[in-house]
Amino acid sequence: MGVAIRGTGSALPEKILTNFDLEKMVDTSDEWIRQRTGMSERHIGQKETVPSLASAACRRALEKAGKKAEEVELIIVATCTTEMLLPCAACRVQNILGAKDAIAFDINAACGGFLFALNTAHHYIESGACNNALVVGSEVLSEIIDWTDRGTCVLFGDGSGAVYVEKTEEGDGSGIIGMSQGSNGMAGKMLYCRGRVVKGETEPEINSEDLLVHMNGGEVFKFAVRQVPICIRKALDMAGLQPEDIDMYLLHQANSRIIESIAKTLKQDIKKFPMNMEKTGNTSSASIPILLDELNREGKIQKGQKLMLSGFGAGMTFGACALIW
Ligand code: ACO
Repeated sequence: MGVAIRGTGSALPEKILTNFDLEKMVDTSDEWIRQRTGMSERHIGQKETVPSLASAACRRALEKAGKKAEEVELIIVATCTTEMLLPCAACRVQNILGAKDAIAFDINAACGGFLFALNTAHHYIESGACNNALVVGSEVLSEIIDWTDRGTCVLFGDGSGAVYVEKTEEGDGSGIIGMSQGSNGMAGKMLYCRGRVVKGETEPEINSEDLLVHMNGGEVFKFAVRQVPICIRKALDMAGLQPEDIDMYLLHQANSRIIESIAKTLKQDIKKFPMNMEKTGNTSSASIPILLDELNREGKIQKGQKLMLSGFGAGMTFGACALIW
């Protein structure tokens, strides 16, 4: 018995913030942002929330899979920006969708979260605890970004991506064939946010600096280019594959230069590494499923192709998943 992705969906807020808009907010330029990150614009939530984006992405994933919300047995939302502490985003998604029979909970592994959620769903299904799951990455990062810090505010965007996964029968040929994940809490200071204002509440009397993301961009960059290839190789080993066996690498869309460096380390053609951060920015846990959904809807993934999904994020966390489409 295996576990395969049967449907993908995504949702992005309506409002778009371009590099030219950012030029008016901080001391930066369109040219610097494009050259150093590969980004031109990103979507920013106005009335959209983590659960509203997640449920829209889930509906599209269910539609693609030809399934109804009532059939869903597990919902895992990966997020680090949900606007309510309780209940968790996944329970609110369950309520919006009417997925009354699902187990629902959140996972916070920052940008690595989608891979952690997918791995968890995989174990639930493989153990026989359930037959299917909605695995979602959803973020409204714009709420915790310091819009006066040019080193971080140009990087992030809001959005959600979801996959519907289910148990496969013997001889199916598609599904997850290797997974690896890890955490390095010792490196936690590279990227952190101490707390946040919960929407609708008055500002708490704490230093507003503590409510925003702080990042040592250079250290995060070095961490990613070193750790992601190691993590990918572990997932490849588990699947009994070599880097050249993978048709497409769908990596966390944090920076085009990080992805170029990883492609070089793995000695793989950069053409195998599709990117969409130009239009979305870094949407944290949502970036991989948004990219997967885009490629799927454009018909760019063929049945039988081998994909590698891999991400990293605050924690620091990292994960990879090899699968046959
Ligand atoms: N516009 C113009 N100049 C800028 C900007 C900007 N937006 N940001 C920084 N600079 C300046 C710096 O101040 C510095 O100037 P100085 O030389 O006068 O001191 C210069 O540009 C170079 O700065 P670096 O930090 O060395 O620039 P770098 O090439 O490393 O790019 C960046 C910075 C884009 C942040 C890069 O380090 C990066 O992408 N790191 C990874 C970040 C990341 O992936 N974070 C997400 C992790 S996942 C998650 O969980 C959220």
